[in-house]
Amino acid sequence: MSRVSVLELFALILATFASLNIAYAADAGAGKISYAVCTACHGANGEGNPALNSPKIAGQESWYLRRQLELFKSGARGTAPGDIYGMQMRPMAMSIVDDAAMENLIAYILTLPVNPPEVTLEGDVAAGKVAYALCATCHGPNAEGLEQLGGPRLAGQNDWYLVRQINNFKQGLRGYHASDIFGAQMKPMASTLVDDQATLNVTAYINSLP
Ligand code: HEC
Ligand code: HEC
Repeated sequence: MSRVSVLELFALILATFASLNIAYAADAGAGKISYAVCTACHGANGEGNPALNSPKIAGQESWYLRRQLELFKSGARGTAPGDIYGMQMRPMAMSIVDDAAMENLIAYILTLPVNPPEVTLEGDVAAGKVAYALCATCHGPNAEGLEQLGGPRLAGQNDWYLVRQINNFKQGLRGYHASDIFGAQMKPMASTLVDDQATLNVTAYINSLP
């Protein structure tokens, strides 16, 4: 067997194990127990809590939740100097003991009810719609998320959190780590929003989506 095919076989075995892990280990009941610690900041229904700077996590897709928890855990997010909110989240992700515990947590988050968040900002929705045309490429026409391009759902997220994350990408507090390939794709996109008003406008447009 050539060296390449051995590697390929190894990759296939790993992929099979990874998918088995997801298929068999996810236990929402066990996830509910671990979720108790998350409740303190994200709320009992994952609805988010602006007073604690913690976003809504209910309604987010499993692949995106998994990626963010892994980024925080590995230190590719929440380690940039000045990222005070990311630094609050990082130890929480580090407390998730293994992949099975992470899958259980995600399975539980997927069971939480999804309600529209409170609108907290204003902007020029028409101008925001024009700016959003670019965003639609990766986040979908209704900001519903596009797994193939790695762009998460934005519709239904807390508007103040969207603004903060856009600024984090702009300031290099997110998308800075060599292993964060999806963050690196988003970083230059945030810079297309030239000022705070442009960010408010696009966020106001996202608020207007179903
Ligand atoms: C001490 C408060 C706190 C606790 C407890 C906490 N988080 Fe967080 N979490 C945050 C903050 C603050 C952020 C936002 C970080 C930022 O602004 O970049 C966050 C962000 C996240 C994100 C990223 C969301 C996104 O769309 O980018 C996920 C996923 C998440 N938390 C899941 C969890 C889970 C699961 C738990 C329980 C194991 C948990 N959090 C416990 C404070 C907390
Ligand atoms: C080239 C594809 C691409 C385009 C275009 C793009 N994004 Fe993103 N965006 C991403 C990816 C990928 C992520 C997830 C990064 C990660 O996993 O950490 C992301 C993440 C985000 C987040 C963080 C969401 C969260 O829950 O933490 C916000 C906010 C965001 N994008 C807004 C925008 C806006 C507004 C535009 C248009 C100005 C835009 N994006 C254009 C790919 C893109």
